[in-house]
Amino acid sequence: MNGVLAALRERARARLDPVHWDFYEGGAGAETALAANEAAFARLALLPRVLTGAGPADPAVTLLGERLSMPVLVSPTAFHRLAHPDGERATARAVAAAGTVLITSMAATTAVDEVTAAAREVRPDAAVWFQLYLQPEPAVTEALVRRAEKAGCTALVVTADSPVFGRRTRDDRNGFHDLPPGLAAENMRDLPGAPPGRTRDIAMSPALSWADLRRLRELTELPVVLKGVLHPADARRAADEGVAALLVSNHGGRQLDAAPAGVEALPAVADAVAGRIPVLLDGGVRSGADAVAALALGAAAVGVGRPVLWGLAADGEAGVAAVLAELRAEVEHILTLCGAADCHGLGRDQVVVRGATGV
Ligand code: FNR
Repeated sequence: MNGVLAALRERARARLDPVHWDFYEGGAGAETALAANEAAFARLALLPRVLTGAGPADPAVTLLGERLSMPVLVSPTAFHRLAHPDGERATARAVAAAGTVLITSMAATTAVDEVTAAAREVRPDAAVWFQLYLQPEPAVTEALVRRAEKAGCTALVVTADSPVFGRRTRDDRNGFHDLPPGLAAENMRDLPGAPPGRTRDIAMSPALSWADLRRLRELTELPVVLKGVLHPADARRAADEGVAALLVSNHGGRQLDAAPAGVEALPAVADAVAGRIPVLLDGGVRSGADAVAALALGAAAVGVGRPVLWGLAADGEAGVAAVLAELRAEVEHILTLCGAADCHGLGRDQVVVRGATGV
């Protein structure tokens, strides 16, 4: 793990209520998938190319028409106001200043219009995408989509890996199932079927299917990113269905504990999609080298979840800024050391598995 991130993680741990720390850090079941994410990256090494004359590398990428200062965006995570009183507003400001995309969670403790407003105070063209769990009641999904559109979000990120809620061992042990008084999932307020001023619970449903995704696409012009894809056949299907991008993810090890690490699933997904749509990856990215390895294996960009929460808990907006600045600097440095001119400059042949040569 990058040293700056590791230090922020320790500060976050020291500051947070241990129950909230466990909520952020924990995974499902025996936390096998959670551990697999970082372990999979630790097994990968980068084979640099020499004398390429590529010059200092440019870490910027373009994704769904947005220019990002680096191939790292912020994956959606719930409840930022548990980490810091400024919550999602602080995150949004830091992400906008860093020049990358924030995917704000449907389970945010700040409403999406306040998140986009905070981002745009810093940078008027800052991109915020809205993470959506398709709701079994179509009217609720539609209301959420309109809320995201009205707030000026430029993409919807539909999380498809949650037909039911993962069994979070630490939260069960700690009895953490509700937000403390004063905090709520603000995007869920005033939706159809809820009494005025009250929030609805986020519903998960194993009955959802590709037909529901199609209905969503008929509702909105916004590009849809499908999050939580691991199987290459689903990736191919998503591209056929007109999804704008994929996010390969095991949900930070919080859903199916038997799932592989995202980065283990990435090459087969990238092959299945064959360049038709961009493939993103999250889970266990803790350094610039991790990000660059994922790029070499076919990702257009990576997402970070927990590192942003560490920065936020440790030092609010400045902490999130520190995480993103460090990742950008490291990506740029490592691309250059690998002889690449930009984020597209590495081939899959430049990723090797440590120890695989038998030495
Ligand atoms: C998440 N994640 C998540 N995903 C999502 O689609 N909607 C959500 O509300 C949340 N909430 C959430 C809360 C917390 C505390 C964590 C740690 C994660 C999953 C997230 O988007 C992402 O897939 C992982 O966090 C990526 O892994 P790393 O970077 O945390 O290892």
